[in-house]
Amino acid sequence: MTSLYSLSQQVALITAAGSGLGKGIALELARRGALVHVWDRDAVALKNLSDESAAAGYAIETRLVNLSIDDEIQAAFSANIQQSKKIDILINNAGGSLHTPFHFLEQSKDDWQKVFELNLMLAVTLSQLVIPVMVANHYGRIINLGSKAGRYGSLFAGANYAAAKGAIHSLTLQLAQEFGPNGITCNAICPGAVMTPRVQGLLKERQSDELRQKILNEIPVRRHAEVDDVAQAVAYLASREAGFITGTLLDINGGQAMST
Ligand SMILES: NC(=O)c1ccc[n+]([C@@H]2O[C@H](COP(=O)([O-])OP(=O)(O)OC[C@H]3O[C@@H](n4cnc5c(N)ncnc54)[C@H](O)[C@@H]3O)[C@@H](O)[C@H]2O)c1
Repeated sequence: MTSLYSLSQQVALITAAGSGLGKGIALELARRGALVHVWDRDAVALKNLSDESAAAGYAIETRLVNLSIDDEIQAAFSANIQQSKKIDILINNAGGSLHTPFHFLEQSKDDWQKVFELNLMLAVTLSQLVIPVMVANHYGRIINLGSKAGRYGSLFAGANYAAAKGAIHSLTLQLAQEFGPNGITCNAICPGAVMTPRVQGLLKERQSDELRQKILNEIPVRRHAEVDDVAQAVAYLASREAGFITGTLLDINGGQAMST
C-alpha cells in the first residue's frame, strides 16, 4: 500500500533547481519517493544539492545544462527521458525577472526578450518535448511556476516579468484543456515574494524598511512565503491524488492579493 501523496515510482524533471525555490521543490518530491532530474547551469549548486540529497538517501539526478541553449536541452532530454520513455512530472521552474529594471519606461526590448525566453519560451520548449511521452503513457502532471506578479502585478519586479508570468498562466489553462483527455493535468502556482536569499536582497534594494514593514502588515498571515510553503503545494499538485485538479492558478500569498 502506498501512503497518501506518495510519489514513489514517479519520475520528475525540474528546471533550474540547483538553488532557490526549485531546490526546495526537488528535495520535497524526492522525499516523497520520486526520482527527480534536476537541470541547472550552476555546477557548484548542483554538487551541493547532490551531496545533500545523497546524505538524505534521496534519488536526485543532477545534470549541468544551460537552459538558454537548445542543443543542451535536447541532449539532456535524450539522455534522461527519451531513452527511458518515462516522465510523470514536469516542473517548469526556471524564471525570474533577471534583475531587469522595475520601472516600465526603463525596460529595454532586450530586457523583455530575455525575461520572456526564460520564463515562457523555455516552458514551451520543454512541454513540447515532454508531452508526447506523457501522452504515450496516458499520464502526466505539469506544474508551471507562475507568480502573484502575473495575476495582480508586482511590488518589486517589472512589467516584463508580470507579463511573462501572465503568459505562462494562460499557457497553463490552454495545456490543461488540450491534454486533459490524455491523462495530463497542468496547473500553475502563483507565489508572492518567497524568502530566498536572492529575493531578500532584491526587496532590500528596491524597497525602504518602512515600505517592507507596511507590506508585511497588509498580508493577512503577516509574513512572506518560505520555500517549503511552495514545495508542499507543488508536491500535492504532482501527486496522483490531485488528478481532478487542472487549469488552476493557485495563489500562495498568505492572502496578500486581497489587500495589496
Ligand atoms: N523567489 C520568489 O520570490 C518567487 C516568487 C514567485 C515566483 N517565483 C518563480 O519561481 C521560480 C524560481 O525562482 P527562484 O527565485 O528560486 O529563482 P533563482 O533566480 O533563485 O534561480 C534558481 C536557479 O536558476 C538557475 N538558472 C538560471 N538561469 C539558468 C539557465 N539559463 N540555465 C540553467 N539554470 C539556470 C540558477 O543557476 C539557479 O540555480 C521562477 O520561475 C520565479 O519566477 C519566484
